[in-house]
Amino acid sequence: MRAKILACVAVIALSAAVVVVASARTTANGLPSYTDGWQKWPRINKKPFRSTGPLSSAHTGVKNVYASKRKVGSKYPNGTVIVKTIVKPGTKYVGQFAVMRKVNGRWRFIEYERSSAKARYSLLAQGQLCQSCHVMAKSNDFVFTKR
Ligand code: HEC
Repeated sequence: MRAKILACVAVIALSAAVVVVASARTTANGLPSYTDGWQKWPRINKKPFRSTGPLSSAHTGVKNVYASKRKVGSKYPNGTVIVKTIVKPGTKYVGQFAVMRKVNGRWRFIEYERSSAKARYSLLAQGQLCQSCHVMAKSNDFVFTKR
């Protein structure tokens, strides 16, 4: 019994430590550090665009898409981070920042927003909601934008 309680305490302590590490990986602007340097990643859309069709309305504004790694065959490798910057209508700064990151063969989706060019980003949405639409781009590894 005592050993069980101890093991339980250890698990709780460990998960608390993981949470601390995860939040420490956020940069000063509120974005996760795995997106650092996105400005230098290759852009995978030809020109800044507003719409690619009806599904595009999920994110409105002027958009660009950057990928940290190139596709190998039909798939992006593990560790790839894809960022979509969105300048919302009537604004001049990136106000929404959508991210896909491939971990163990699966994409994780998360999106941030901010209300001015200097504000910190905060979480807007993530997970299944995003996945449920991106599944329409399954033939291109869940990525709508093609070079
Ligand atoms: C209703 C459909 C839909 C939903 C929901 C959606 N997206 Fe998208 N997403 C798109 C489309 C379409 C594109 C292609 C670019 C465009 O038209 O904006 C796209 C592009 C992207 C890109 C650039 C890579 C690519 O696939 O072209 C990222 C990153 C992204 N979305 C992240 C997210 C995240 C994070 C969420 C959830 C918070 C989300 N998306 C929810 C439709 C959707």
